[in-house]
Amino acid sequence: MSKRIIVINGPNLNLLGTRETDVYGTVTLAEIAAAVVEEAGRLGMEVDFIQTNHEGEIIDKLHESRGNYDLVILNPGAYTHYSIAIRDAVKAVELPCIEVHLSNIHAREEFRSKSVIAPVCVGQICGFGANSYIIALRAAELLLSQK
Ligand code: DQA
Repeated sequence: MSKRIIVINGPNLNLLGTRETDVYGTVTLAEIAAAVVEEAGRLGMEVDFIQTNHEGEIIDKLHESRGNYDLVILNPGAYTHYSIAIRDAVKAVELPCIEVHLSNIHAREEFRSKSVIAPVCVGQICGFGANSYIIALRAAELLLSQK
């Protein structure tokens, strides 16, 4: 059976393409979604790709992911830096989770270098722009094939 992945994107990521293009580039979230779906197909995995601006909805999606997906790829946006509620949800659902960011959060403002989510994730991929998602998908494939 093919592995099922959900990619969850948090606040403001719907604005990619026009938002701080010097930091995030001009790629849109729809283009990232299309690239992710294409790569998942190549890897023989099924993927759902969603975005929400609401913390509670991220938490609901994490809860619903249990039993429905094998792994979560999560870009929590700014919630990365302070949402203990999202961290607790990641921990609670006991699914492997890979944190992704387009930008290198360790090379920006100091408040971004701290992720409260990363300690409950398998790992963190950041700094590769849209390719952070593709790298995360490949990491997911490696991880799940070793299980
Ligand atoms: C981001 C990094 C966060 O610090 C920021 O708040 C975002 C985007 C990234 O993908 O680089 O919204 O998660």
